[in-house]
Order: sequence, then structure tokens, then C-alpha cells
Amino acid sequence: MPDDLHMDPEDFRELGRKLIDFIADYREKIETLPVLSQVQPGEVAAGLPLEPPVEGDSLDNILQDIDRIVMPGLTHWQSPGFFGYYPANSSLPSVLAELLCAGLGVQGMSWVTSPACTELETRVLDWLAGILGLPGSFSSSSPGGGGVIHGTASEAVLAVMVAGRERVRAGGEAAGKELRAYCSSQAHSSVLKAASICGIGSQNLVQVGVRDDLSMDPAMLEVAIENDLGAGRVPFFICATVGTTSTCAMDSVAELGRIARKHELWLHVDAAYAGNACVCPEYREMIEGVELADSFNCNPHKWLLTTFDCSTLWVRDRESFTQALSVTPEYLRTSQGDSGAVIDYRDWQIPLGRRFRSLKLWFVLRWYGVDGLRAFIREQVRLAELFEELVCGSQNFEICAPRRLGLVCFRFRGSDDENRELLDAINAGGEIFLTHTVIPVEGAARYVLRFATGTISTKEKHVLRAWEIIQSLAPSGTIPG
Ligand SMILES: Cc1ncc(COP(=O)(O)O)c(C=O)c1O
Repeated sequence: MPDDLHMDPEDFRELGRKLIDFIADYREKIETLPVLSQVQPGEVAAGLPLEPPVEGDSLDNILQDIDRIVMPGLTHWQSPGFFGYYPANSSLPSVLAELLCAGLGVQGMSWVTSPACTELETRVLDWLAGILGLPGSFSSSSPGGGGVIHGTASEAVLAVMVAGRERVRAGGEAAGKELRAYCSSQAHSSVLKAASICGIGSQNLVQVGVRDDLSMDPAMLEVAIENDLGAGRVPFFICATVGTTSTCAMDSVAELGRIARKHELWLHVDAAYAGNACVCPEYREMIEGVELADSFNCNPHKWLLTTFDCSTLWVRDRESFTQALSVTPEYLRTSQGDSGAVIDYRDWQIPLGRRFRSLKLWFVLRWYGVDGLRAFIREQVRLAELFEELVCGSQNFEICAPRRLGLVCFRFRGSDDENRELLDAINAGGEIFLTHTVIPVEGAARYVLRFATGTISTKEKHVLRAWEIIQSLAPSGTIPG
């Protein structure tokens, strides 16, 4: 083996500086890049050799290829003109923590494999539970509760659905019967995926109808549960969505919680995006009743300044949760784990291995402090309010669902095709990026544009400019607002 096969720490020091400079330069110039990647399918792949490199290469050459091949194929999620989907903000303190995580290179599947990885995560999640105003029953200092970081909300809902399934199976009465889970017709597709992966079958996820505000209709849920019971099926799980993906509609956790308690069903709250806003006490109303929930999930990797992946999940009864997910072959056995005195987070998640993800949440909480997080969320909501006002002031556009937090759903007062073409034109321009959804508007399914604030670099001037662009591209002959 050649002596210089690996990068030594001295080279790393120098090359690391280059890479940090590269990232800093990227963030500085991001506003000048087209937000939506303009490449055609296959264009990035065409720039890559078919065969892997036989000999090693230099970082300089790799960075040149990043500029030449990769950069044009990026959609710039951190651009101030990014208003698509929900944000995925990646603050620079969390980027540094990500580097530290890789640099330390620990794998924290069990307490013993890096006690700090476990204990920091537990503490940081207790902090965050308090900052979000979650009930004490979710804290690790309560008799039953605790939090864990998953990669995504999709993993979280799958893990808790498995736990709910095992809890109902443990009762014995479910043997040989169909298990039923419930969410609203507006819930995220990850709930359907979870139902299919966890073995109850996607046909056993009941997608309950919604009220006018697109929240799950509790009366319809009750009927669905009663029908299932009558037909000999076994209801076991409800997923309440606080902040749906399409319109940020909010199910009533309190109403669904009462139904869950009555029928002894596991209630999971998916607050992937909106839950982050609970750092501000004035938004906590949306999770009223959360003390009735068995689990609560939100994604700091969406709106709480923490780079992907960081999805925080809390459970009220960690015993039933870990019993469902724990598998301990001899080679993973440790005396500390056996003693029950420590947390082995491998029992709280689907994969075995785990990164030191709490570092980035810790860096974010320490860098910004609670005040900083609140200021950030409030400013981004203010920017969405500003955009909403601009839309309301125009005769040519209409708001299609109540603005909630940083999301404004609106449309040009014209046909769906005109709105589709408008969105294509907006995104082709490269200065801003928006996405769409289809929702009922006055009884008919309509194509609607979504404008989501939340990217760190977005300022008022970017929102004003976005509105200018949208108006200028709207079908001609219309009156500017
Ligand atoms: C309400 C809701 N739940 C779940 C998800 C899925 O998130 P993840 O990518 O973390 O699985 C999203 C993504 O936008 C979402 O909006």
C-alpha cells in the first residue's frame, strides 16, 4: 500500500479550508444562480465518465468538476428566491456541526458505542420539547417518555405505526383480524407508505374526509372507526396532521385525541413543518390537545435551521415504542444496555446504525438561542403575511386557502392551464422558484400555486421582487394589483 494513500490531517487542514471557502463562496453568490436547475434529464450523467477513476485525484480537480458538472444540476434550496415545497434550511452553524459529525466519525447505535452521542441527543431533545411547549410526558425525565432523532418524518411515522401495531397485537384480540389506521385525505404520502411497509396493507389505511378548512373531519373518523369495529376489523392508529403538505391545514389534535383515547388507538401527530413554529408560544394553539397524543414529530430540517437530516420524534410510552423495535442479537449485547440504565437508540429507530445528528441541533440551539429561533420564525411568517397582502390587493389573483404560518396558496383568476403555464414561466425565469398543488376551491379541484417562505436568506426585498415577477408573467391584458 502506498504511504500517501490517505489524506493526512495536515492535508486535511489545508484542503478543509479550501472546501469551507468553496461553501462560503457558494452561499455568497447563491442569489445570482438560477434557483431551479435548468439542466435536461441525463445532462449531469453525460458529464460523468462511464468508468470509475483508477488512480486517485486532487481536491482541486474534484472541486472543478463540482463547478462544471454538479452545480448546473442543483436546485438551490438555500437561495433567497426559493419559495417551493416547504423550506429545507441549512444554517451555516448546522453545516459546521455536520462536518464535525463526519470528522468525529462515531456510530452511535448503542450507548456504549459513544455515550456522548446518546446523552447529548437525549438532553437536546428534552430541551427542544420544552422549547416547543410539549407536555412533560414527552421528556426523558418523565417516567415513560423521551425523544429521538430520526432521518425523516417518513421513518418516524413508520416506527410509531409499528409500535401501535405491536401494542394492539399484544392485547391478543387482533389475531387474524385486519388492522386499520386512519389519517385525513390531506395527510402526507408517508403515512400510506408506512401502512404498506408495516404490513397492514395500504388498503387498511382509511383516508378520512376533511372539513372545509381541509382538516380531518372528526365525525367522519368516528363513523369510519365504528364501521370497522362493526365489520370485525381492529382500529389501532390515527395520524393527525398539523400543517398538511398541500396547504398547511391543521387537524384538531384535541378532537382526534379524544377519539383516540375513547377507542384506545395510538395517536401520532405529524407536524413535520408547522410544529417548528411552536418555538413561538403564540403558535402553540395549533397543537392544543397534544397531551392526548402518543407521539409527536417535527422536522427541524425543514424550518428550524438544521441541515437535513434531522427529524425529531417524541413518544409518551418509550417502553411500548422500544419493545416494538428492539432486536438484540448477542453481538450487540452490552452490560449497560442489559442493566436498563442507559438508552440504546438503535431500539428507537428502524436502522441499526446512527450518526451523531444531535450535534447539529445542539449547535443550532446554542448559536441562535431560543430568542434567535423565535425571531427567525416570526420574520418568515411576517414575510408570508406580506405576500398574502400583496395577493389580496390584486384583482387578478386570489387566495385559495387561509394562509398558515409561512405558506400562501394562491392562483391567478383564470384557468388551471393558465396557472400551470404561469408557474412554468416563473420557474423558467430562474430568479424564483414556486411549486403547486391541487385543492378544492369553491367545490372544484383547482391547480393552485404555493408560496412558502422560510429560507434563511429570504428578505422582504425578495418577496417584493417575487410578487413583481409573478405579476409580470401573468396572462396579459390583466390589471396590475
Ligand atoms: C406534513 C408532512 N409530513 C411528512 C413529510 C415528509 O417529510 P420527510 O421528508 O422528513 O419524510 C412532509 C414533507 O414535506 C410533510 O409536509
